[in-house]
Amino acid sequence: MSFEILLSLVTNEVMPKITVKNSQGAIVAEFQGNSEEALSTQIQDAGAPIPMSCGAGACRTCCCKVTKGMEHLEKEAVGPMHIMVDDDEILSCIASLKLDAPEEAEIEVSSENL
Ligand code: FES
Repeated sequence: MSFEILLSLVTNEVMPKITVKNSQGAIVAEFQGNSEEALSTQIQDAGAPIPMSCGAGACRTCCCKVTKGMEHLEKEAVGPMHIMVDDDEILSCIASLKLDAPEEAEIEVSSENL
């Protein structure tokens, strides 16, 4: 657990809410996100087994459609994209919350492979 996450728990700081849906539209995870880790890591830690392959933004296995809050996500937060995705999609293995995402932000993503 990163220092920032631990500090937010100690201070009761609210962090942006992330909702993850599967390809059928069912909610499979809801959690308070952070900008320290890749979104795929946070999704897996929240209990949703989002599939991964390359882990480096090159294969699309972890691709998610963002249905809410794209403005709060950084597509290349932990590494560069090596393939193109649509404007409303992210590669969750390299995407994360923006550093300045407001605490009241709500992000909703849908994994095509869950
Ligand atoms: S696991 Fe390959 S692009 Fe994310």
